[in-house]
Amino acid sequence: MTGAAADRGIIWSDDFLIGIEELDYEHRRLIENINELHRELLAHVDMDRVEDTLGGIHARMQAHFALEEHVMVSHEYPHYPEHKAEHERLLDEYTELMTKFERAPNLGDRVAMEDILRQWIVDHILTSDKKMSLMVVSSKKNIATIEPSTLGRRFRKLMPGKGPG
Ligand SMILES: [Fe+2]
Ligand SMILES: [Fe+2]
Repeated sequence: MTGAAADRGIIWSDDFLIGIEELDYEHRRLIENINELHRELLAHVDMDRVEDTLGGIHARMQAHFALEEHVMVSHEYPHYPEHKAEHERLLDEYTELMTKFERAPNLGDRVAMEDILRQWIVDHILTSDKKMSLMVVSSKKNIATIEPSTLGRRFRKLMPGKGPG
């Protein structure tokens, strides 16, 4: 089954694959990060560690959205504005919940925060990202294969002015 299992986190399935290698790689890493967060929260690990994981997910989401938006723009994807708006909404909601949770950790905010992350993975990838990839993959333009090790550098190029490095 694809999706979230409350106690085990999100179970990876090939149903998540959208057929664009570098984005699939990122989706998989994001799911791993979200599951890592889930394990840490269940185990009541040190809040400093949880904050590192939350920040890491935030940075990865931002970088992932930037890369995906770059792919959409370079392929003149017609639904780019709606898709970008969805990214912005997801990032805003997650940022708000993350900040609230860090300020005063409590179960209600924790559940809402994890729900947003899972909803994004399950709904956004399976619907919006797949819809986008169907058009992009079928377009004649080539999508350059990116080695995972070069992704960080590529993200930084795509996000000028987004912090150090
Ligand atoms: Fe997306
Ligand atoms: Fe995505």
